[in-house]
Amino acid sequence: MAAPTWLSDAVLYQIYPQSFADSDGDGIGDLRGIAEHLDYLAWLGVTAVWINPCFVSPMGDAGYDIADYFAVDPRYGDNNDLARLVDQTRAHGIRLLLDLVPGHTSGTHPWFVASANDPRDHRYIWAAPAGGRLPERFVPSPGTRPGGYLPNFFDFQPALNFGYARPQSDEPWRQDVTADGPQANRAALRTIMDHWLRLGVSGFRVDMAYSLVKDDPGLAETVRLWREERAWLDQTHPDAALLSEWGDPAVAVPAGFHADFFLHFGGPSDGRPLRSLWSNGISTERPEWAAEPCYFDADGRGSARVFLAAYLAALAAIGEPGHIALPTANHDFARLHAGSRTSEQLPPAFAFLLTFPTLPAIYYGEEIGMRHLPGLPDTEGSISIASSFNRAGSRTPMQWDASPNAGFSVAPAARLYLPVDPDPQRPTVAGQRADQDSLLHLVKDLIALRRAHPELGPRGSLEILSDGYPLAYLRSGRFLVVVNPSGRARVLPHDRPALAGVTPVKHIGVNVDQATITARPFSYGIFRL
Ligand code: NOJ
Repeated sequence: MAAPTWLSDAVLYQIYPQSFADSDGDGIGDLRGIAEHLDYLAWLGVTAVWINPCFVSPMGDAGYDIADYFAVDPRYGDNNDLARLVDQTRAHGIRLLLDLVPGHTSGTHPWFVASANDPRDHRYIWAAPAGGRLPERFVPSPGTRPGGYLPNFFDFQPALNFGYARPQSDEPWRQDVTADGPQANRAALRTIMDHWLRLGVSGFRVDMAYSLVKDDPGLAETVRLWREERAWLDQTHPDAALLSEWGDPAVAVPAGFHADFFLHFGGPSDGRPLRSLWSNGISTERPEWAAEPCYFDADGRGSARVFLAAYLAALAAIGEPGHIALPTANHDFARLHAGSRTSEQLPPAFAFLLTFPTLPAIYYGEEIGMRHLPGLPDTEGSISIASSFNRAGSRTPMQWDASPNAGFSVAPAARLYLPVDPDPQRPTVAGQRADQDSLLHLVKDLIALRRAHPELGPRGSLEILSDGYPLAYLRSGRFLVVVNPSGRARVLPHDRPALAGVTPVKHIGVNVDQATITARPFSYGIFRL
């Protein structure tokens, strides 16, 4: 079954709810705060919003440690606020997606508390070897149950038991995927999804979707599991979408996901380090990540070839039914405006994002060029286990206007979830809305262009004219796109008569004549053929 049309035409927007808008003055963003800014999101033109987990949680990992899948955490409001938000987003022509965390719960989840005190319970993976020595990675039991449990990410996130692809009788914790515990957890996933889909949400971003079945060579059993969930979804909620955090669309889409996030690519499957289009190597979860110059690099040391090869290979593998979602950043990775990157480098990135056939996903604040803030304290597990990168830098409060705390909250600055960017020149939504030449207006115009011309989306064709600097491509034979993210002027000869008479749609610093495309440093151009 193909992805729903709304997804194929979507412009996604990710909201980290802690940091978007605080309606009650406690220093932490909330659901009513999001609702108060739906006019803004509709003005911007995004069509679907994904919010990070907003469920009851001790917040050891910013809500990715869930204690109740069915209840909104009080700091964000209550279930009525979420129901209202679903209706209000719909009324603004926007769909709402929640975050599904299938691989683990919090250690405070009642399932885990029960399991830690009942040796007959198999919702989690427990080992109690006779010699008393726990297998590698297992964490000692916090309850009366002997032995220890397997965590999925932080130690306080016990892995839900979906079984092992290679059960072993001498290691009884390696249960078969068909055992009662693993089957109960599969059913629980459906119950959770069904609950929120009935409320009117349009789908889920699925956390660590690749992580469910353990010791699973080639992830074959994990794929089988998701196919089963997807078959259920097609029967019960055919208009809903599942977007995976997998990082490998060639596997995730055939596994049943409607789209997979492609923030990083390559990696173990092609035997090379993970790379990203935007960032020179900042990852939180993937120790195999290694820095390599990215394409959107001012020094022009990267190559679009690496990304294009990975993209085209993934596309060939997924065929019609799914999509490759390309985010600008997310709550785990550095923002576009990070490190030595300057704001003049952002427009070419958005020109690319919104004219390429991947599904665009804008992380909150990227549309105004919010900075990645270095040097913040570890906040709710922002310094993750696999790397020393501090995710807090990508999670600072949204900058709305020139009022205190950039309009994020009326709380005293010291009470904010994270500090607001202290730069007096920090960009704000209000400031950029008043400036027609701002990044925000460019992003809004590019979204409008993409929505008016579905041939710029995943269903339109792509022809690459140049994969160096500048990058140049045709979309559906009707648009020419040129981006030069490097700090050097570039000249690209061409021999296509059709390019001679192109009409500019949106451009800064790119010129096309009979024989050449010239691109100034940090330029972009979208032209109509
Ligand atoms: C991926 C999420 O994006 C990240 O924020 C979280 O810490 C881990 N999964 C664990 O759930």
